[in-house]
Amino acid sequence: MAADGPVIDIDHVYKLYTTRAPGGAGTLLALRDITLDVADGEFVTLVGPSGCGKSTLLHMVAGLHPATAGAIRYKGREVTQVNTGIGYITQGDNLLPWRTLQGNVELAMEFKGLPPAERRERAREYIHLVGLDGFEEFYPHELSGGMRKRAGIIRTLAWDPPAILMDEPFGPLDAQTRTILQDELLKLWARTQRTTLFVTHDLVESIALSDRIV
Ligand SMILES: Nc1ncnc2c1ncn2[C@@H]1O[C@H](COP(=O)(O)OP(=O)(O)OP(=O)(O)O)[C@@H](O)[C@H]1O
Ligand SMILES: [Mg+2]
Repeated sequence: MAADGPVIDIDHVYKLYTTRAPGGAGTLLALRDITLDVADGEFVTLVGPSGCGKSTLLHMVAGLHPATAGAIRYKGREVTQVNTGIGYITQGDNLLPWRTLQGNVELAMEFKGLPPAERRERAREYIHLVGLDGFEEFYPHELSGGMRKRAGIIRTLAWDPPAILMDEPFGPLDAQTRTILQDELLKLWARTQRTTLFVTHDLVESIALSDRIV
């Protein structure tokens, strides 16, 4: 990476989806000419109405979808495949159904090669942080929607990625849990200053959390 270059560099990006429109294949322009930089250690919030392309943009930064035109660079390198250097808390929960809560939270740490004892300990710490003690051995279908959401959040935070994408992570949670998690996220961020791109519908949340709102 160039010394002062942005960590996430979205450069005149377009996304055209091919869709099943009535009467045959159609296309849908989800993003048009989007340019946005996120600097090292910056916390940027994306705010916009439903369907405006926020998740699409995060998917592309994570390398799950290619851009139709333009380029996305992460630490100066064009993203052309799944970007494993980045943590992504997706809008939907995608816990592995065959793994317990504990097993799911340890997943990314496993990929990173952390020793089992450290994984277990860190997973426990984060499970406690979000009030899920006692549910370690529960499978995702035995957890509530909000509990699964919390598990998805800590699965990524526990791995402590150098940059992190979050897609409305607190949307479906109750007001109290939401406030606790926002608070924890701010504390964590103050400590680690991870480059963050955060999507929300909530203007108050975006003002409370971020350096910059787009
Ligand atoms: N895989 C896909 N194939 C075709 N069209 C898609 C696909 N994913 C998203 N779209 C379309 O792209 C547009 C943007 O969707 P996206 O999910 O990025 O919106 P969003 O801003 O995240 O909305 P929300 O706030 O509701 O989550 C929508 O019109 C959607 O129908
Ligand atoms: Mg979305």
